[in-house]
Amino acid sequence: MTAQSGSIESVLVENRVFPPSEATMEGARIKGMEAYQALCDEAEKDYEGFWARLARENVVWTKPFTKVLDESNAPFYKWFEDGELNASANCLDKHMGTPVENKTAIIFEADDGKVTKVTYKEMLERVSQFANALKAEGVKKGDRVIIYMPMTIEGIVAMQACARIGATHSVVFGGFSAKAVHERIVDAGAVCVITSNYQMRGGKELPLKSIVDEALAEGGTECVKSVLVFERTPTACNMVEGRDKTFSQALEGQSTVCDPVPVGAEHPLFVLYTSGSTGKPKGVQHSTGGYILWANTTMQWTFDLRPEDIFWCTADIGWVTGHTYITYGPLAAGATQVVFEGVPTYPDASRFWKMIQDHKVTIFYTAPTAIRSLIKAADSNEAVHPKNFDLSSLRILGSVGEPINPEAWMWYYKNIGGERCPIVDTFWQTETGAHMMTPLPGATPLVPGSCTLALPGITAAIVDETGNELPNGSGGILVIKRPWPSMIRTIWGDPERFKKSYFPEELQGAYLAGDGAVRSEDRGYFRITGRIDDVLNVSGHRMGTMEIESCLVAKSDLVAEAAVVGRPDDLTGEAICAFVVLKQGRPSPEEAPKIAKALRDWVAHEIGPIAKPKDIRFGDNLPKTRSGKIMRRLLRSLAKGESITQDTSTLENPAILDQLGDAY
Ligand code: PRX
Repeated sequence: MTAQSGSIESVLVENRVFPPSEATMEGARIKGMEAYQALCDEAEKDYEGFWARLARENVVWTKPFTKVLDESNAPFYKWFEDGELNASANCLDKHMGTPVENKTAIIFEADDGKVTKVTYKEMLERVSQFANALKAEGVKKGDRVIIYMPMTIEGIVAMQACARIGATHSVVFGGFSAKAVHERIVDAGAVCVITSNYQMRGGKELPLKSIVDEALAEGGTECVKSVLVFERTPTACNMVEGRDKTFSQALEGQSTVCDPVPVGAEHPLFVLYTSGSTGKPKGVQHSTGGYILWANTTMQWTFDLRPEDIFWCTADIGWVTGHTYITYGPLAAGATQVVFEGVPTYPDASRFWKMIQDHKVTIFYTAPTAIRSLIKAADSNEAVHPKNFDLSSLRILGSVGEPINPEAWMWYYKNIGGERCPIVDTFWQTETGAHMMTPLPGATPLVPGSCTLALPGITAAIVDETGNELPNGSGGILVIKRPWPSMIRTIWGDPERFKKSYFPEELQGAYLAGDGAVRSEDRGYFRITGRIDDVLNVSGHRMGTMEIESCLVAKSDLVAEAAVVGRPDDLTGEAICAFVVLKQGRPSPEEAPKIAKALRDWVAHEIGPIAKPKDIRFGDNLPKTRSGKIMRRLLRSLAKGESITQDTSTLENPAILDQLGDAY
């Protein structure tokens, strides 16, 4: 929380309202605002009773819980603590002997268009066999396993197999660097790494295993005893004798039956690293019981899931959206889902629309960045316009990861949803585990650009810097007032940072989301105004400014000092802007583009291509106060290309501002 929270802009009033149509309300799980309100009232009257009811209805327990919420060591809350369950059994075994057993669980479409289908029964066999392979490698309950895999059925199987034996997985997005993989292996103390020889994206074969090798060549990785390698392509990769095995070698002779290991409700199902306001990513630790409960429940509520639906979430399993709405939620809810390996622009920018048509997708869940880039593509090339495709199977659309601007919302609503499909704009975070605020298709009147209201049981509010609730219409800090089952339990290995980051004393025990928000005067609808900390949201990906700064400064042969800020960008939401002081002094205009490229390549190598600064500006120094503090608000104005109207009298070196005008 910083002083910036006071300056959150009040957003424009949005007058368009789209109430649910009769067709959408017909048969809806939560039908009409009265039904929504009834659930909210139930939670308000008896908070623990509400969650206990849902936990009994939506989770299969091998040992029923007797306690619901333990607040004795707040903010280290415990939910359903004496209950026992297995997450994989809640996604697979529970469907055996029901009509879901032989239903298609996954329709996988590869980068090259090849389609593979797997039923629930087959998934159970594949997950069980993989779980046996992990056991044979010595992986056991409580161990951590790093998964660095492309979007494949095998990636989902690997995650489920860890859950089946009670191992805690930590998935690293396939676009992250060797250094990022290394940091996560060391921080998590992983015993095993599951990866792939290569990944296919946009027709290109990109290496993964060699990046794991590079990570494992660094110190602190002695904990890793085995590496399992999926052969995604026939191309050979380096294999280390005694440590590495291909999937075929590991699975050979393993039984397709493996009893799920019951774990306590609080057992860590996974740790997922995300960016915070310091240079070091945080390992967000999630529980098993509370997480599965909310993944399954929100899958049903938010998407009004029905047995015949074909659900498609376009996220990657490397992000939380892929965890909750690909690996766990859809399977726990017994849905048929599409899983896509590739990118939306290959072979051309109509790939998503063609896939919706081909697979008769009914629920489509994607990110505003994807929508914005596909709008741009459709505007410039008729052939990839969604109007050329039959999208009539669609029933519900979803948006996630960043604020959706009303123009993109309207385009999505008209061109993809045919003005027929409600858009659920779901606000949540890696830390919240699952949806927090979202419209409900059969109940909530929609307002473009607003995530509307909190789900029943979620106590979202807007407060000032001392934790006092603000009236509708005033921008402030978004908090969740009471603990909820799928919340982050701690930061892996750093409980102090957990407390400080999310439960600062001033906020009187509320969870600090890190976002600013405003509620509309009329309906009390929430609209997220963006992060209030040093975290940027670039194409729906979270990036810490400090992380990129530390990375730039680590290029010590070139860089003396660096500061990173965000600026609005039409396509990516926010863009990364780096202000750099070189050791050699300011480069000439001829030299500058070359150095900028070298710095971008460096950041891509150290963190991953998603962290590359879009703009790099060079100066002899950074604008600082006399006490040496970098004046970031000036940098933000410069990044936006605004003329400086702020008071610069406290600046040590006002002339510097003129040098920082050119972006490379
Ligand atoms: O700033 C908010 C934004 O994404 C952040 C969480 O990022 P991450 O943990 O990577 O999870 C993304 C997927 C859930 C939030 O703090 N954000 C997420 N969803 C929305 C959003 N901002 C506005 N509207 C949303 N629907």
